[in-house]
Parts: sequence; C-alpha cells; structure tokens
Amino acid sequence: MLNVFTNKAAITGAIAAYKLQKETVGFVPTMGALHQGHLALVKKALLDTSFVVVSIFVNPTQFDNNDDLEKYPRTLDDDVKLLQTLSKNRILVYAPSVFDIYQGKTVADSFNFDGLEFEMEGRFRTGHFDGVGTIVKRFFEIIKPQKAYFGEKDFQQLAIVKKMVQKHAIPVQVIGCPIYREPSGLAMSSRNTRLNPSCKAMAPFVYKTLATVRDNFGTKRVEEMLEWVSSQFAKQDVLKLEYFIIADVETLKPAQEKQETKKYRAFIAVYADDVRLIDNIALN
Ligand code: PAF
Repeated sequence: MLNVFTNKAAITGAIAAYKLQKETVGFVPTMGALHQGHLALVKKALLDTSFVVVSIFVNPTQFDNNDDLEKYPRTLDDDVKLLQTLSKNRILVYAPSVFDIYQGKTVADSFNFDGLEFEMEGRFRTGHFDGVGTIVKRFFEIIKPQKAYFGEKDFQQLAIVKKMVQKHAIPVQVIGCPIYREPSGLAMSSRNTRLNPSCKAMAPFVYKTLATVRDNFGTKRVEEMLEWVSSQFAKQDVLKLEYFIIADVETLKPAQEKQETKKYRAFIAVYADDVRLIDNIALN
C-alpha cells in the first residue's frame, strides 16, 4: 500500500528521511479525482526524480463558487489505487485536511503576478489565482521539491506558478506538460465526470473549434476568428461560451492583430450546464 500522509508533520518527516539518502523530490499537485492526465504528470516525475509527492487537496480558497467547491469530485481511495499502479514505493501521497493547511484561517494571501492574474480565468473567477498561489506556495514550502509538474490545460496557472517562483526566488524547477486528451479530443479534467450525457456528447466540440482556429491561424485575421467561434457556439444550445480569446503567450493579453515575432495561443472557457470546462491550444 502507498503511504498516505494527512498532516504536515508526518509528510515532512517522511520526506526528510528520503532526503537523508540524497534523493531528489518531484511534486505533482492535484485536487484528486485523478485521470490519465494526472498520471502522465506523475509518470514524468517518476522518470526525472527519485521519489514523487502527489498532493490531493481540494483547495477551498481558489473556488469563487461554493456550489463548484461542494460538487468537486472527491475519490481518495480510487486515487490511491490508481497511483499504486505507477509505483508501489516511490510515491508519497499528501492528502491534508483544510485545517492542516490553513489552521482555521481559510483565506488566501494576496499576490502580484505582474498582471497575468487579471486575464481570462482571473477575470471570470475572482480571487482564483490568489488561492492557487497560496496553496502552491505552501506546498512548495512543506515539500521543498526540486521539480514540480503542472499540466498545460491550466496554461494560465502554469504561467502564474512560474512567475511566483521567479518573484519569490523559490528553488524549484516548474515543468509544464502537454494537455492529455480523450480520443474525442476533449481535454481530460476531473470535472468531466460531472457532465451529463448530452453535455458529454457535445463537449468535444470545444477542442474541434480550437483545432479549426489553429488550422486557419495562418490565413485569417484575429477578429475573423473571434467572430467565427462565437457564430459556431451560437448554432447550438448545449454549451455556453464564457470566453474565447487569442492571446500572446508571454503576457496572456488578448491579441488584436498578429505580429510575426510573437507566439499565440487560443483560450476558451465554456459552461456545459453547471460544469465549467477550459481548454487551450498553441497557434504558431
Ligand atoms: O490544477 C489544480 O488541480 C490546482 O489548481 C492545484 C495546482 C492542485 C492547486 O490547488
């Protein structure tokens, strides 16, 4: 059985014991309800480091919607079983209680991410990135990993974590890993388990739209692509488009026109009933 640690003292003790043997620590932060996308991060970490800490913690301070927080899937026993299929002795699971992390003061710290926090998800989920910064920084302080792995599905989160590490001089290498997709193209997400059958059937439309934008990026103007995406979503009533933007990958600011020297990505958020899905794709 994998070791599951539920408090700070126990996990730091276990990590210290490994470190006595000069082992390198990899870290994969998750909110549980693990899927193949998470497992791909853990596999990569197992290749790069001698042991891997996987945190499983639904972090309340990054939710701006109580309903979403309450309905977030929690499947610790299944998660541990899945992790065990990857390694029986090189994974430590840290599944703390809210009290262990917040000591009764469940509020986020305030961060300045040089404006990255005000775009896209930051615009639609108030305080979200303060919550993410708070929990990731606390985990880095507890676990002190050499390398930490984040999926590109949350591309803005990855950019923000890199910014935080740089600004706070935290000695960890942050590694971004490609989006893991279902055969239909739907980006894997713990929230996918909450999709009802009609939403599930329609959800691959999100990726199909992004892929079409990517395929036409060389020949179409930004404005044409924005209009085209809105018109595609207007033709159906299962998915509600929250935002679609084409952004500069460095600043995450929406692009008005393409510039030769810059790299762009398309970002999208949709509601499928009450389930919020996000996705993104590299355009050039
Ligand atoms: O991407 C997530 O699952 C969460 O935002 C993270 C990084 C585990 C922090 O709670």
